[in-house]
Amino acid sequence: LQKGGKPNLVEISINRSLCNSCKRCIICCPWNIFNEDNSGIPQIDNEELCVSCGHCIAVCEKNAISHSNFKSGIVNPINDKLIPSFEETLELIRSRRSIRAFLDKPVNDEQINHIISGSIFAPSSNNEQSTEYVIIKDAKTIEKIKIYTIDFFEEIYNKMNNPIYRNLFLLYNKRKALESIEKLPDYKKLIDKANMGNDLILHNAPVLLFLHSNKNVSFSEVDDLLKLQNAMLLSHAMGLGSFYAGYVVAACRYDDKIPRLLDIPKENSINGCIAIGYPKLKYSKWIDKKNSRIRII
Ligand SMILES: Cc1cc2nc3c(=O)[nH]c(=O)nc-3n(C[C@H](O)[C@H](O)[C@H](O)COP(=O)(O)O)c2cc1C
Repeated sequence: LQKGGKPNLVEISINRSLCNSCKRCIICCPWNIFNEDNSGIPQIDNEELCVSCGHCIAVCEKNAISHSNFKSGIVNPINDKLIPSFEETLELIRSRRSIRAFLDKPVNDEQINHIISGSIFAPSSNNEQSTEYVIIKDAKTIEKIKIYTIDFFEEIYNKMNNPIYRNLFLLYNKRKALESIEKLPDYKKLIDKANMGNDLILHNAPVLLFLHSNKNVSFSEVDDLLKLQNAMLLSHAMGLGSFYAGYVVAACRYDDKIPRLLDIPKENSINGCIAIGYPKLKYSKWIDKKNSRIRII
C-alpha cells in the first residue's frame, strides 16, 4: 500500500541516456525516492512512498524520468511571462472583497470550469487531492438550500429560548452554549429578514460552489479551504464576485438536509460553500486589515 492507504500503482524509471546527473530530482523529492549511485545516475528507492506530486517530472530538464502517473499530455510547460508580478498579485489579493450584491446576469459554464480547474492547483496534505465539488446553478435548489439554512437557525433559536433546553445545553457544553446565546440576536435577524423576503443567507447569488471531502483523509478540511481561496481569487480575477456562505456550511455541519439534497456521501463533510455572481458594485478602494500579531523567533 502507498501512503494514504492507496494501492501502489507507481512505476518510476530513469532513461540513463538522457539523464545528465544534475541531481535536481534528488534535491526536490519530498520522500527521498531518488538516490545517487556510483555512476551519478539516480537510483530509485521506495517507490511505494511516492505521493505522485510530480516534482521530479516537472524539475527534470532532460525529460529523463518516466512516471506511470504522469503520461504525456498532462505535463505542461510553465509560461514565465504569464506569472503576475508581486505588485499585481498583491493588488488582486487586497482588492478582493466579499461580494453580496449580484447582478441578474448568469455565470456561464466556461467561467465555472475555469474557477474549478484553477482552484485545484492548491497544496493538499500528502498530495491526496480529495476535494470534490458540487456546482449549484438551479434556482430552485439554491432556494431550498436557503430555506433549510433558515430552518436550521430558527430551530436553534427556538430551542435556545426554551429555558430547560438552554440550561441543559449550558451544563453539557458551557462554551458552545454561551457562543450560541451570544449569536441569538444574529439568528433572529436572519429569520426576521427571511420572513420579510430579504435573503441574508445567500444574497440572491446565481451560483453556489460546495467543496467537500472524505472526513477520514487527514487535513481534508484544510485541503478544501486552500482550494476555496484559489477559487475566490480566480473569480475576482475574472470580474466575478464571491463570498463564503458560512451560515450554509454551519447548517451542513449539524443538519443533514443540505448534504442529503446534494447527495454528499456519508463519509464526506462539506467544508466550504461560496456564492458566486457578477458584482453589482465596483469597489475603488482597498482598506487595511487589522495588524496581525507577528513574532519573530
Ligand atoms: C468562515 C467564514 C464564514 C463566513 N460566513 C459568511 C456568511 O455566512 N455570510 C456572508 O455574507 N459573509 C460571510 N463571510 C465573509 C466575511 O464576513 C468577510 O470575509 C469579512 O467580513 C471580511 O470582508 P472581506 O471578505 O470583504 O475582506 C465569512 C467568511 C469566513 C472566512
